[in-house]
This record gives sequence, C-alpha cells and structure tokens, in this order.
Amino acid sequence: MEIKITKTENPKEKQTENLGFGKVFTDHMFVMDYERGKGWSNARIIPFENLNLHPAATVFHYGAEIFEGLKAYRTKDGSVQLFRPIENVRRMNNSAERIGLPQIPEEDMLSAILEFVKVEQDWVPYGEGESLYLRPFMFGNDEHLGVHSINRASFLIIASPSGSYYAEGINPVKIMIEDQDVRAVRGGTGYAKCGGNYAAATRAGEKAEKLGFTQVLWLDGVERKYIEEVGAMNVMMKIDGEIITPMLSGSILPGITRKSIIELLKSKGYKVTERKISIDEIIDALKSGKMEEFWGCGTAAVVSPVGELYYEGETYVINDNKIGETTQMLYNTLTDIQWGRTEDKFGWITRI
Ligand code: PLP
Ligand code: COI
Repeated sequence: MEIKITKTENPKEKQTENLGFGKVFTDHMFVMDYERGKGWSNARIIPFENLNLHPAATVFHYGAEIFEGLKAYRTKDGSVQLFRPIENVRRMNNSAERIGLPQIPEEDMLSAILEFVKVEQDWVPYGEGESLYLRPFMFGNDEHLGVHSINRASFLIIASPSGSYYAEGINPVKIMIEDQDVRAVRGGTGYAKCGGNYAAATRAGEKAEKLGFTQVLWLDGVERKYIEEVGAMNVMMKIDGEIITPMLSGSILPGITRKSIIELLKSKGYKVTERKISIDEIIDALKSGKMEEFWGCGTAAVVSPVGELYYEGETYVINDNKIGETTQMLYNTLTDIQWGRTEDKFGWITRI
C-alpha cells in the first residue's frame, strides 16, 4: 500500500508536562477512504485537522463507528516500539465485521500504523509511564438517511502523547458494580470495540463519578448475575490463591492486555481460570476475606489495582486499599516488556 505523506508547515510545540490522557494531539493524522466496489484508496498522512463531513453521514445517525487503542513506547536507548500491534489490527477487523464496516487487509492496516508512528516518533514522550497513545478508528459516511448497509467509510489514526489514564496512577481505584444499566448482551456488540458500547455505558459512568467512583463494573446483560468488565478494562482477581477472570462470552471485549497477562501468568507457572464469576461469589469472597487481590487491565490503564468495590449500598475494601503482590508483579513485568527494560521472550514487540 502506498502512503502519501504531506508534512505540516506549522509543527506544534511538544507539551511534555501534565500530559494527562488523550488531551494533546500530534501534528499529523493518517486517513484512508473506502467506497464499495472500489475498496480502500488514497492512503495519506496529512497535517492534523478537523474533519469535514456531510450532516447525514451514517456515523452521526446510526453509530457506525469502531476504534482501537494501542501505544508507542520510548525505550531507554531512545528507540520506539509497539506492543502486539497485530492483535489490534485483527480486533479492528473483527469489530468491522460486526458493525458492517469494511475490513482492511492486515498488512495494510499494520503498515499504516507503523508508517504513522515513524512520522510522529518525536512525539513519543520520554517521561516515566508515558507513551504515545494511538487511536485508529473507522466510521461509515454514506451521505443519506436510509438505514442500509454501508457503502462509504473512512479509516483514520490519530495520536496523543499521554501519561496515566487514571488520576490515581498505579494507586488503587474505586469501582462501582452497576446493577441497573447493562453494557452489552451476547449476540450484541460487546466483543466489538465500537463507540456504541461506550455510549451505552455513559449514564452509569456518570452516576459512578458523582458517587466518587472511578468506573463501573458491569454485570451480564441477561441475568445481571455474572461480572463482565470495567469501562475501559478487563478484570481479574485472586480469590483464596486462585487467579480467575471472566471468560469471553461475546459480551466482553477480548482485551489484548488480558490475553497477554494470561499468557504471562501461565508462562510463570500460575494457574489462571477463565470462567463465569457470579456477583454472589465475589461478595462472599469479600465478606470472608478470601478476596486477596482484584485488578483491571487494559492498554490505557495498564494494570490497575482495585481498592474498593461498591455494590448495593455497601463498600468493600480489598487488600487494605493497597496494591497486591500479584498485581504489582504483573504491572512490573508487563511495563518492563512494553518499555523495553527486559527481554521480550514472547515476541510481542514491534520496533519502529
Ligand atoms: N474492556 C474495555 C471495555 C475496554 O475499553 C478496554 C480497552 O481497550 C479493555 C477492556 C482492555 O482491552 P485492551 O487490553 O486490548 O486495551
Ligand atoms: C484503551 O485502553 O485503549 C481504551 O480504549 C480505553 C478507553 C476507552 C480510553
């Protein structure tokens, strides 16, 4: 795939302090257009700019949007690397398939990501725990209001130098278990990374924030009995020495961090069980003191200890609101691989 590169004539000054998450954007963006019958064309990297879209574009009315999230890391020797980008490429295509958006040949999407990071590599920050967050996304933009299959789409990549996702950093977050709204059901779009899932989650997220919680832990959409995932993370826990995580049921996002942690734990000889976990089992473990650790994992959030869980008016504290041994080990091992501080025995790293 040929990518035409037009560099900006007005590069921005690079912000290095108080990055936060997803607030600062780089100088360029990758764009590519799709038309049914013609396929993908006009791959280009251009100066970052606002989009000019028809007000009837499908994305505004029927939510035809999917996205990905991955990071470019600065290593000690100054080089730049990505963590398992092919996994994001594959998940993006799975999401596209679910939403009826066009897929992109894997090698083309991967080369778009790599080429874009090459252009923006000076934007990869140097600070501890900082990285360049990459946001590939795709939306339908047919210019009419009929509800039909999608004939026109755009694929873009933007990038944001970012620090910690949560204000808490690596300190434990407080999570509210939501027992009213649900995020997804089997057969729906839960396993796809589409904007609509996050729209469905907003109301509960707002409620949680008002009550002083960082995010919501979702229950399954049918029985509201089994835990699923948190707003931007998959969850895992250690109950009475056993590491467990909700199985992928179709309504949970198959997290790349989740998958990596399971592989890491297994390689270190730990047993990890993927199964249904009921809220009753969790509450029992919290009450009996058998809940040793609880953590979330995701690209933006990395590995994030959960210090408090709130359910039906009760707050339960986990591990004295401190990061647990396994959580800390996972955080260290994963970030050491991502930032190139240790050998990558798994072949997860792609260097730019
Ligand atoms: N679950 C949800 C709803 C997410 O938004 C994310 C973030 O991408 C995750 C889980 C974790 O996925 P990953 O580890 O691939 O970033
Ligand atoms: C990510 O971890 O990449 C995410 O997409 C989380 C998020 C929705 C900000």
